[in-house]
Amino acid sequence: MVTTTSTLLLLLIVCFLISSSLATNVTYDGRAIIINGERRVLISGSIHYPRSTPDMWPGLIQKAKEGGLDAIETYIFWNAHEPTKREYNFNENLDFIKFIKIVQDAGLFAILRIGPYVCAEWNYGGFPVWLHQIPGVEMRTDNEIFKAEMQNFTTLIVNMVKNERLFASQGGPIIIAQIENEYGNIMDKYGSAGKRYIQWCANLAETLNIGVPWIMCQQADAPPPMVNA
Ligand SMILES: *[C@@H]1O[C@H](CO)[C@@H](O)[C@H](O)[C@H]1NC(C)=O
Ligand SMILES: *[C@@H]1O[C@H](CO)[C@@H](O)[C@H](O)[C@H]1NC(C)=O
Repeated sequence: MVTTTSTLLLLLIVCFLISSSLATNVTYDGRAIIINGERRVLISGSIHYPRSTPDMWPGLIQKAKEGGLDAIETYIFWNAHEPTKREYNFNENLDFIKFIKIVQDAGLFAILRIGPYVCAEWNYGGFPVWLHQIPGVEMRTDNEIFKAEMQNFTTLIVNMVKNERLFASQGGPIIIAQIENEYGNIMDKYGSAGKRYIQWCANLAETLNIGVPWIMCQQADAPPPMVNA
């Protein structure tokens, strides 16, 4: 009995040591992103997974690596994944988990721009049409209906990533995630509701507890610890 218990304990300790040593520590200061204690300048490039087939992904990612990239970044395309409310599609060229795993296999970092707004010559900025049609919804502002839907989808994506242990804090390749996107460019038009919304986005991101930094692209007043990128 004693032997079994101590063997189990030893096993648990070994597992803990292995899993904590596989984790990548991603932080930042005023000068740079810091990976495992080292300031780094990373070169990242976009590959939007829905725009090619899974068969093409390893080749594209390998070429990106040979071209000198350290990281692959992609948006998440909400209207492709949830074309009808609560009916999801993560198959074929929408299998973003598979895409990130291929990035990991290639030995590159990944940057996940969840948004949900995507600025990518993509229909309606990636927002589902059904969302637009909900009575009373106002997009990308301090609107309860919009925020509830954004929270629902963002949480789903983060949980899918966590379940596959793909954040760097879990030993995965994702070193940065992004909430909202280029909102700073249009925020003034929303007045004080816009300011409340971006604070809410920051709070949402924080509570998702992913263990790597969150960025906001083009958000001069990004609420800490969101990084203005
Ligand atoms: C992660 O890196 C930062 C900055 O280098 C350091 O202050 C911190 O202690 C590290 N955290 C862990 C868990 O190693
Ligand atoms: C999203 O909303 C559905 C109800 O439409 C609910 O069942 C589900 O738990 C919600 N998901 C999250 C992550 O909040």
